[in-house]
Order: sequence, then C-alpha cells, then structure tokens
Amino acid sequence: MLTVERLEVGYGKATVVWDVSVRVEAGEIVTIIGANGAGKTTILRAVAGLLRPTGGRIAFRGREIVGLAAPVVATLGVALVPEGRELFPHMTVYENLRLGGRRAGRSVAARLERVYTLFPRLAERARQLAVTLSGGEQQMLAIGRALMSEPHLVLLDEPSTGLAPLVVEHLFQVVRQLGAEGVTTLLVEQNAHLALEVSDRAYVLERGRVILEGSAATLLHHPQVQTAYLGHEA
Ligand SMILES: Nc1ncnc2c1ncn2[C@@H]1O[C@H](COP(=O)(O)OP(=O)(O)OP(=O)(O)O)[C@@H](O)[C@H]1O
Ligand SMILES: [Mg+2]
Repeated sequence: MLTVERLEVGYGKATVVWDVSVRVEAGEIVTIIGANGAGKTTILRAVAGLLRPTGGRIAFRGREIVGLAAPVVATLGVALVPEGRELFPHMTVYENLRLGGRRAGRSVAARLERVYTLFPRLAERARQLAVTLSGGEQQMLAIGRALMSEPHLVLLDEPSTGLAPLVVEHLFQVVRQLGAEGVTTLLVEQNAHLALEVSDRAYVLERGRVILEGSAATLLHHPQVQTAYLGHEA
C-alpha cells in the first residue's frame, strides 16, 4: 500500500527526518511512536504531499507520489487527519463532513451513512456546530471527514491528544474496525501503549531517525520501548 524509502525531509535548510523507511501493507494498522519533535508529523505531511522531501521515495499503491501536489495525493486515496483536527468550528458537523475530500465512488449519502454508523454520536449532533462538540467528538468528526473521501490510506496524527483514556480507547476501537473493513491506517502517537495495542506493526522514531521497528507485540515488550515510552523503570 505505502512504501517510504530513505525519506529525508525538513523545513528550509533544516533537515528533521533522515533516512526513514516505513512500509504499510493493505489492511494493516501501523504506528510511528516518538516523543515531541521526533518528526512524526513531518513524515505524515510528506506522505500527504504537503512537504517536498529532499531525498528518498514514497510509493503509494505502486505509484511514485513524491512531487505530486497534496490534492492529487488525496485524489489517489490518501486522507490526512491532521494534528489539532483543523475543523471548521462555526460550521455544523454535517457541513464539516460535506467538506471531506471528494473522490469518484459512492454517493455522498452512502458515505455519510457509513460515517454515522461508525460514529453514531456524529449523527445525533449533525446540526450542531463543531465548536460545541467535546474533544472526543471533534476527533471523531476529523476522522469522519477524512473517511468521506473513502480513502485507501488514512494518516492519523495523534488522535489521542487531550482526550480521556476511555475516549481514546473508543476511537482506537473504531480504527481497528476500519482495519477489518480494509481501511489501512498509518498512525502517529505519543501514547505508545494504546497505539501499540491496536497496531499490527510499529516504528520508533527518535530525533528524525527510526531506531526500532517490529511487530506491535514485540515492541510492547521491548525494554527500550518500555523505559522510554511506557513509563516502566529501567
Ligand atoms: N514549519 C516548521 N518550520 C521549521 N521547523 C519545523 C516546522 N515544523 C516542525 N519543525 C521542526 O521539525 C521537527 C519535527 O517536528 P514534527 O512536528 O514533525 O514533530 P512531531 O514528532 O510531530 O512532534 P509532536 O509530537 O510534538 O507533534 C521539530 O524539531 C520541529 O521544531
Ligand atoms: Mg506532531
């Protein structure tokens, strides 16, 4: 589905991601865990076509996508749920969903129906302004909006930020359900524990480089991950 090879990307002359290779197979949930500033968002933005890499390649469904503009990448079936959600606060839930990217495929009604089935809370609040939603509901809306384009790949940037553990668990259940429906997810998280529990595989990013990779179960028990990201004593 997605192959990132030896990616190098940064801002102006400052490179912040070096030699990062990440692979996501169809139907998988893959997580990149890493501390603040490790470069997680930068990688997602590069995949989404919002940042131009200075090195490496990114292939999506067999096609080279480096250099394609973000709207083109979106049309190919990549949907980014950005950090901070970036909703339109003074528009309703329904209106925010309607602004989700368009791709050829099923009717808007069928797409809405799917999002409302995944998140019944959004259906109940369809006419409510986004600004009046709880944090968890806003995150549901951000994910729902991304799903309106019926993407092949969802890039999920720190969905757990600011949410209570139970709310995060519910969100991740939905992510897992999406996985079962064949939606592939590349997740970026500081909340390593929950992320590893829903993921198939993961990468650990430190200061712009991948320092560990493996199955989520392996990483959950890896001493280095336990001390640095899961709060266990060394
Ligand atoms: N627009 C920008 N201009 C210059 N430097 C930036 C910009 N955005 C991010 N950086 C720098 O790039 C590095 C990686 O940032 P990035 O946002 O990818 O980290 P992150 O892993 O997503 O962190 P967080 O968990 O805090 O979201 C940081 O050192 C950051 O200061
Ligand atoms: Mg980030």
